[in-house]
Amino acid sequence: MRTRRAALSAIATSAVLALSLSACGQSSEGGSETSGDSAKGGTIGIAMPTKSSERWIADGANVVKDLESKGYKTTLVYGEDDPDQQVSQIENLITQGVKALIVAAIDNKSLNNVLQQAADAKIPVISYDRLILGTKNVDYYASFDNEKVGELQGNYILEKLGLADGSKKGPFNIELFAGSNDDNNTKYFFGGAMKVLQPYIDKNQLVVKSGQTALTQVTTLRWDGGTAQKRMDDILTAAYKTERVDAVLSPYDGISIGILSALKSDDYGSKSKPLPVVTGQDAEVASVKSIIADEQSMTVYKDTRELAKVASNMVDAALTGKTPETNDTKTYDNGAKVVPAYLLTPVSVDKANYQKVVVDSGYVKESDLK
Ligand code: GAL
Repeated sequence: MRTRRAALSAIATSAVLALSLSACGQSSEGGSETSGDSAKGGTIGIAMPTKSSERWIADGANVVKDLESKGYKTTLVYGEDDPDQQVSQIENLITQGVKALIVAAIDNKSLNNVLQQAADAKIPVISYDRLILGTKNVDYYASFDNEKVGELQGNYILEKLGLADGSKKGPFNIELFAGSNDDNNTKYFFGGAMKVLQPYIDKNQLVVKSGQTALTQVTTLRWDGGTAQKRMDDILTAAYKTERVDAVLSPYDGISIGILSALKSDDYGSKSKPLPVVTGQDAEVASVKSIIADEQSMTVYKDTRELAKVASNMVDAALTGKTPETNDTKTYDNGAKVVPAYLLTPVSVDKANYQKVVVDSGYVKESDLK
């Protein structure tokens, strides 16, 4: 329970914040005046990580649309990949009096204090796509089967190299990339991929010439494509003077595009030096185009429209006294509790099925691929 003084100071702060929030967030109600809302129909705070990737822009827009169709108002904010900014944005949302929070964390361990404030104000919290760690104050988790994402990437490499069906024995050279070390998904993507690749590394059918195989050696802070490009450049210079790289495990399209730039600068993609198999994730437009152009080999499609629906349904159920639907109550231990989750299924996409899976479903517009 909040004290009277805290409540009064929250009202005062919220008047000041009304101005600053309309500058940094988008609000479907054009402001932040939410006092007097009942839970049903109240304002839901949505904190997304960055606008630098198109998927998060779509995620934000879809969650807003779904919640509005259920009669809620929304305030959507983006943390520009800065954990401190995200914390203060969430603090502001709580002060505004949001009825629930949907959060896609930038740094999964940075939110403990602010989520305690949410719990004190009895605001349910949905962890969106990325699990928030180390706090019991996260109620539900909406995501995809993240380990499966990595398995799809690893299996695609094995199939394309001819190792899966035994038609080729190798050895083939592979390099490994993982996502941001502060994103809980990173270890699931990498773990899923290594579960299928490691046996071939052990048999020397796959060789990592750089020697960089531990997760701590292969992460890419904030999923940054430029950082990945630099690392790939360095690896090509140091370990591939005479050898050629046959496959690159990439966890995310933005990283894949960086890796492909480094490869192309080193003459890969020419007649005498074919590009390696390069994986990805998110079916971003640039990567679907790259797949059509025979550069990136595959991506993993996750229908974020469905994810937005799952998260919105969770909020609606939590605020109307129902139990949100979950389909996994075992996997996602955040260190403080096992968070009940609803996991959607990721789909492997390459040149053979992109039209059917990502275009015909309306996820990517045909005209954007021209
Ligand atoms: C992960 C997410 C991926 C990708 C990546 C970079 O958390 O699950 O789909 O979007 O962030 O944004």
